[in-house]
Amino acid sequence: MAYYSDELIEEVRSRNDIVDVISGYVRLTKKGSTYFGLCPFHNEKTGSFSVSPNKQMYYCFGCGAGGNVFTFLMQYENFSFPEAMEALAERAGIELPKQEMSAQAKKEADKRQILLEINKAAGKYYYMLLRSEHGKQAYEYFKKRELSDATMQKFGLGYSDKYSDDLYRYLRKLGYDDAILKESGLVSIDEVRGGHDKFWNRAMFPIMDVHNKVIGFGGRVMGDGEPKYLNSPETKVFDKSRNLYALNFARQTKKPQMLLCEGYMDVIALHQAGFDNAVASLGTAFTSGHASLLKRYTKEVYLTFDSDGAGIKAALRAIPILKEVGLTAKVINMKPYKDPDEFIKALGAEEYQKRIDAAENSFMFEIRILEQKYDMKDPEGKTAFQTEVAKKLLDFTTELERNNYMEAVADKYHMSFEALRNLVNQLGTQGGLVKERTPLKSGLNEKKHKKEDGMKQSQKLLLTWLIEYDNLYDKIKDIITPEDFTEDIFRKVAELLYEQKKSGTVNPAQIISLFAEEEEQREVAELFHARIHEVDSAAERDKALKETILRVKDNSISYRSAHLEPTDMQGLQQLVADKRTLQNMEKMHISID
Ligand code: UTP
Ligand code: MN
Repeated sequence: MAYYSDELIEEVRSRNDIVDVISGYVRLTKKGSTYFGLCPFHNEKTGSFSVSPNKQMYYCFGCGAGGNVFTFLMQYENFSFPEAMEALAERAGIELPKQEMSAQAKKEADKRQILLEINKAAGKYYYMLLRSEHGKQAYEYFKKRELSDATMQKFGLGYSDKYSDDLYRYLRKLGYDDAILKESGLVSIDEVRGGHDKFWNRAMFPIMDVHNKVIGFGGRVMGDGEPKYLNSPETKVFDKSRNLYALNFARQTKKPQMLLCEGYMDVIALHQAGFDNAVASLGTAFTSGHASLLKRYTKEVYLTFDSDGAGIKAALRAIPILKEVGLTAKVINMKPYKDPDEFIKALGAEEYQKRIDAAENSFMFEIRILEQKYDMKDPEGKTAFQTEVAKKLLDFTTELERNNYMEAVADKYHMSFEALRNLVNQLGTQGGLVKERTPLKSGLNEKKHKKEDGMKQSQKLLLTWLIEYDNLYDKIKDIITPEDFTEDIFRKVAELLYEQKKSGTVNPAQIISLFAEEEEQREVAELFHARIHEVDSAAERDKALKETILRVKDNSISYRSAHLEPTDMQGLQQLVADKRTLQNMEKMHISID
């Protein structure tokens, strides 16, 4: 964020009307002073997505996505803030100051650029070959695998010729020298024999990053032969643990989950069948880098790995990696078929969708596989299995979740719930493994949470109303101050908003830009879009307003009493004064209009 000055950021923001920008992505219809459309960030039929020209903000009442014009591009295009800034500056014809780079950094950046150019040139070359006389066999191969021309085009599929150095010669002719070509991983340079292509006579799959840049290739033998797939080695632009095949497409999906496959062909077959949320790793195992990458786009990942032993093993490895970053994992059963490609060919998309709907909870999957290792007919084997399960159940840290899983396991494996719970508790106390002491009756905790949520909601409502009703600020500025907003981010926003109110120009979209992270921006946007159940009359609304103000003040007083240092005399006096204000407020009449 330290990149650009606040003034420049504000200039770029204000010269890109949010309705214009979002209209380029979402069809909007005007209703009153607000525009509405189908939310691009979740799947819906109703149109909860709103864009306000006055506030220069968008907000989805369905999924809570929201922000200003920068946030939109960060969410939709997955841009970083500087990338959103560049795109919008260009759109408005504003020249940004050039970033100062060290000579070394510049050299690296240039090299990356050239490597991307080389990959792009190679991709075009393979693409052209597939559609030429030379590529006939490969074209037939893809056809035999039931890929349409449109699919081949979408994935940029190609063919590498039978000659051992035609790509090398082509790239040399384009002006690239041996040193850089070697770094691209597409050719090897032999001192005696010269340049050699890595890929010969293979069906080619370009691998793209999320910005649609070709960063490497996979090449398949047509028919039998070893290795079946050959992949580009890692290079300065090809990091296999930070990229996923087809994520450039899948990141735009409106489906609620991502489908994680093993193979390129699986991904392509799924996309062709309408599952635009399929991705795969790049000929390597699934890593936590992949999991964090997916986390940016989804909350749930469904594994659709091969049905064989290797696929199951890979799934068992991937599940904890996904959970570790906070993603929910499920497992799709494709039996009796081997992989999604074969499944779709045999049974079609509709049947596959049913398998998605029936996907198995990853914990239940792990337990089911575990069971196969034990002889369940033998009491000893059965006990050993149950003990293993009980140990695994200890991973759930909340009592509620643990109970739910104990119930499901007891139910499925015909165990007594009580006996299972006793075993879990016993193991937990033995190993000191139960991470927190959860009170038997969690009712108390729940009540506390509810009260906190209600508190936040009141503070949000007040911020929303302050923006929506011009006169409100003057009426409440002496009784509610930014310090009364007890949540950190709420208080920061209140401070900024009060400053704007004081100077007479309210600009919520500008406030959003002052927060660096997309997540914070979304939260701030949410603060400006709180809603209460419909109120029918002005009197009712005023009543809600008064209650809200009283609640915010009352909460602020209790919060400060709880956190007051005994020696803070000034704080104490302020508290006493505030309590008096609160008493007076109860008798006061405050009206929005
Ligand atoms: P699979 O052998 O399951 O591939 O390998 P697949 O997609 O079903 O292949 P088809 O349907 O026979 O064409 C899954 C993935 O593992 C990597 C590739 O990324 C492949 O997509 N792999 C496989 C290799 O890198 N090298 C190999 O020799 C085999
Ligand atoms: Mn396959």
